[in-house]
Amino acid sequence: MAISIKISKTPQSRIHLCDFDNIEFGKIFSDHMFRVDYKNGAWQNPEILPYGPISIAPSLSAIHYGQAIFEGMKAFKSTDGTPLLFRPTDNAKRLNVSAVRMGMPEIPEELFMAGLTELIKLDQNWIPTKDGSALYIRPFMFATDDFVGVRPSENYSFIIFCCPVNSYYPKPIKVKVEEKYVRASTGMAGFAKAAGNYGISMLPSYEAKKEGYDQIIWTDGNNHEYVEESGTTNLFFVVDDNLVLTPHLDGNILNGITRNSCIQLLKAKGYAVEERKISINEIVEWSKSGRLTDCFGTGTAAIIAKIAAIGYKGNDYILPDAEQRVVSNYLYQTLYGIQCGKVEDPFHWSVKLD
Ligand code: COI
Repeated sequence: MAISIKISKTPQSRIHLCDFDNIEFGKIFSDHMFRVDYKNGAWQNPEILPYGPISIAPSLSAIHYGQAIFEGMKAFKSTDGTPLLFRPTDNAKRLNVSAVRMGMPEIPEELFMAGLTELIKLDQNWIPTKDGSALYIRPFMFATDDFVGVRPSENYSFIIFCCPVNSYYPKPIKVKVEEKYVRASTGMAGFAKAAGNYGISMLPSYEAKKEGYDQIIWTDGNNHEYVEESGTTNLFFVVDDNLVLTPHLDGNILNGITRNSCIQLLKAKGYAVEERKISINEIVEWSKSGRLTDCFGTGTAAIIAKIAAIGYKGNDYILPDAEQRVVSNYLYQTLYGIQCGKVEDPFHWSVKLD
């Protein structure tokens, strides 16, 4: 059955306020947002309305008990000007995986896609076209019960808003291996894109920043022996420019859509890719022997974030010059090229909104 969405357009577009030549990540929002509310066991009244503040109760349960999950995805402009979405149904599916873990209702994929496509069609002029840019899309769901007490909320809102962005990291980053704090451990919610998983990264990343690092690398909760993910991306390590390693999906890390795309692109190109536990000692040994030829983070916001140095126990392990990196340069060019419709898309990841 077709989903009917009420559309209330903004009387006054704000697009003239956006300086498309100097976009700062996450600071300017497109004209509209999609919203649907969950009440009495059903998603109700889907609508598109002007982007703006929403009214919430001080007792809103998401704020107190953390039932809040989100996604990150992007829209691009193809060469003929048509909007392109990258693997959008994978985001819908992952949101529902997060929802189940957090005791929240799933959102039907058709409803997610209907709201998303209507919104992107309406705000398509906000999709930037400069190299590296995109329209970042933020779908999120949160508990809205006006109630104090620890139990799953009975009411929820699901909203999608958008912001034009450039690359999240404009230059290669320095990361520090985190040995004090833990993000996730067996049985926790590390795989979920839950707001709390980012909340607990604020203090460790602030402390790392004071030491001159841009980000942290989370390690396992038992002995801080194995690397997991960075504060904003999944991680890849390249040995001798031919073996590519990434931490396996053990339930503690995010099942990244960019991560998965990179694995598929690398395998198709003939690289050996290992998804397994990777110890920080191995990484140090590869670096000391000159075999660590590339290292990067992958994520929707960051796309491919080259890592310039890894800090561990007071030493910085320096990576080769970013310009010379074979694997990360190949991945960035291919992935971003597919996303913008400029490179052949053998996996049919790009969805055209005609
Ligand atoms: C994303 O990559 O979409 C994220 O949610 C991470 C955040 C750095 C914006």
